[in-house]
Amino acid sequence: MSDAVVADSAIIRVNDLVKRFGSVEVLRGITFDVKKGETLCILGGSGGGKSTLLNCMIGVIDATEGSVVIDGDDIVGVSERELDVVRRKFGVMFQGGALLNSMTIAQNIALPIEHHTKLDADTIETMVKMKLHQVDLLHAADRRPSAISGGMQKRAAVARALALDPKILFYDEPSAGLDPIATTRIDHLINKLKTTMRMTNIVVTHVMESVQRIADRIIMLDRGKVILDGTLDDLMTSDDPRIKQFRTGDLKGPGGGATSTEDYHRDLLM
Ligand SMILES: Nc1ncnc2c1ncn2[C@@H]1O[C@H](COP(=O)(O)OP(=O)(O)O)[C@@H](O)[C@H]1O
Ligand SMILES: [Mg+2]
Repeated sequence: MSDAVVADSAIIRVNDLVKRFGSVEVLRGITFDVKKGETLCILGGSGGGKSTLLNCMIGVIDATEGSVVIDGDDIVGVSERELDVVRRKFGVMFQGGALLNSMTIAQNIALPIEHHTKLDADTIETMVKMKLHQVDLLHAADRRPSAISGGMQKRAAVARALALDPKILFYDEPSAGLDPIATTRIDHLINKLKTTMRMTNIVVTHVMESVQRIADRIIMLDRGKVILDGTLDDLMTSDDPRIKQFRTGDLKGPGGGATSTEDYHRDLLM
């Protein structure tokens, strides 16, 4: 694990990241920083490489070339044991929530604490209550994931991602499958974590309304490259036809109109 110096306020530094699956190059030299305490949205059309990038950033898949430095530690090519140390610094809210239905919401949140610490049961119970309170779910502690709404499941997944008090939270499509009100609620939660906990949030999303509510900065991917790194204002005023098409959701344009809604939703769940 290298001790790269993080000279400024960057808490994550992605440098010239390349990912190939066989001969297919999915990420083609991605470079950007995430600053401490900001919400960065990762946007882009389906198949652009967003999930692959996120998975490289959390060490779920190993990058082919380049580096991902998280809070001073390069995670590319390190052992599982070294990765485990870095993993304590961030939480991940996976697509679909990934809660275990054989357990209550409280037990789901206790799981990572039991796994990573030697804390006694009373302390863990107190910690779980705090996390549930943060996401406004204390009342649902003893329910099973299948017995609560989709929006509540997503908030429970955020509570579980918060279990070990991370500095950084990753979210892959946090509002996939949610109605507009539940989406707004998740967005408010993301903003609240930023202002109250100084959380650094990295959010993969395609929902423009969410981007407008939460983003401090935006990167947009297209075919494995960064085509925009800037503010919401930069996104809204860009003349790049690929960015314009994304903004307006127009079927005609360089992104093509080949992806049906069904395909897109299936893709989201991949
Ligand atoms: N494990 C894999 N093996 C081969 N190709 C993959 C794999 N994962 C993703 N891809 C390909 O990489 C491209 C980007 O996928 P993905 O990162 O899921 O895009 P996004 O999340 O932006 O929709 C797609 O063309 C996809 O088929
Ligand atoms: Mg994806």
